[in-house]
Amino acid sequence: GNAVRVAVLGCGSVGSQVVRLLGEQAGDLAARVGAPVELAGVAVRRLDAPREVEVPEGLLTTDATALVTRDDVDLVVEVIGGIEPARSLILAALESGKSVVTANKALLAEDGPTLFEAAEKVGRDLYYEAAVAGAIPILRPLRESLAGDRVTRVLGIVNGTTNFILDKMDSSGAGFAEALEEAQELGYAEADPTADVEGFDAAAKAAILASLAFHSRVTASDVYREGITEVTAADVQSAVEMNSVVKLLAIAELRTGPGGDDSVAVRVHPAMIPRSHPLASVREAFNAVFVESEAAGQLMFYGPGAGGAPTASAVLGDLVTVARNRLAGTRGAGESAYADRAVLPMGET
Ligand code: HSE
Repeated sequence: GNAVRVAVLGCGSVGSQVVRLLGEQAGDLAARVGAPVELAGVAVRRLDAPREVEVPEGLLTTDATALVTRDDVDLVVEVIGGIEPARSLILAALESGKSVVTANKALLAEDGPTLFEAAEKVGRDLYYEAAVAGAIPILRPLRESLAGDRVTRVLGIVNGTTNFILDKMDSSGAGFAEALEEAQELGYAEADPTADVEGFDAAAKAAILASLAFHSRVTASDVYREGITEVTAADVQSAVEMNSVVKLLAIAELRTGPGGDDSVAVRVHPAMIPRSHPLASVREAFNAVFVESEAAGQLMFYGPGAGGAPTASAVLGDLVTVARNRLAGTRGAGESAYADRAVLPMGET
């Protein structure tokens, strides 16, 4: 028939919610896509691992490479994360003509152009709304809704774990170590919280935001990065006294040189912001992205930036778009790198 057949790579907190929603929303998804959307298989590392969702009999496999190249698969959802094997699997999927939806911020920020070029070569889609700020629709607005405007600055709280820690330090006077421990107990921070607290996760997301906001190609290595491990209870307290709050900000700016030439500067570091700024109201593990543009003015996008179901919401949205494109015999541009703008090394001022 004309069903769209989906392979899911990874069945962790996001993958299991994607599988659940594919089942529970099957009727609505079929109506929105214009054809049934069917689960073709789920690739996992271990068949007997405990899972949040019951995967229908016979759909689990440990052979991800075979799954993504199978003739009866149209669309691949990659929610494994990390660089390898995710990159090889996405490339294999695209090369065999599949459309791809991914949530992989680290991979896109490190090697996005390789993936976009592979997608373009075969005329397939590569979409990744879930890679930045989980459920918050922010990549499509930057790439499409604001494409007729001139975005000048993006300020993001794009890491929930560090926002939780800084918020805890702000509201209770706790030190960094104590707040981190609480974040870990609540399941926000990973057992190894380095990617969160050292700003690597935010830097990857900053690179993706900057690429789309400024229609350029920014990679994680272009981003100046400083985490929150050195922020003390005394720092947070002095911010309180100044009616301000400390946030880990991802800052992407368009700089206009004397000759009128634009360049892009991107950095991640703890910053003091006045309590009256909309970003100061972002508490706990929530995310927000504040956008400044010439015609629209100021916009803020707010919501849950992580978690299985919220992230799966963004994955499913992309899946509907990509499935529709496939049925229509068309493709959308996952990236939007049309501007010839210099990217300043390490967010140089
Ligand atoms: N570790 C990330 C965070 C998860 O805390 O925001 C979402 O990418």
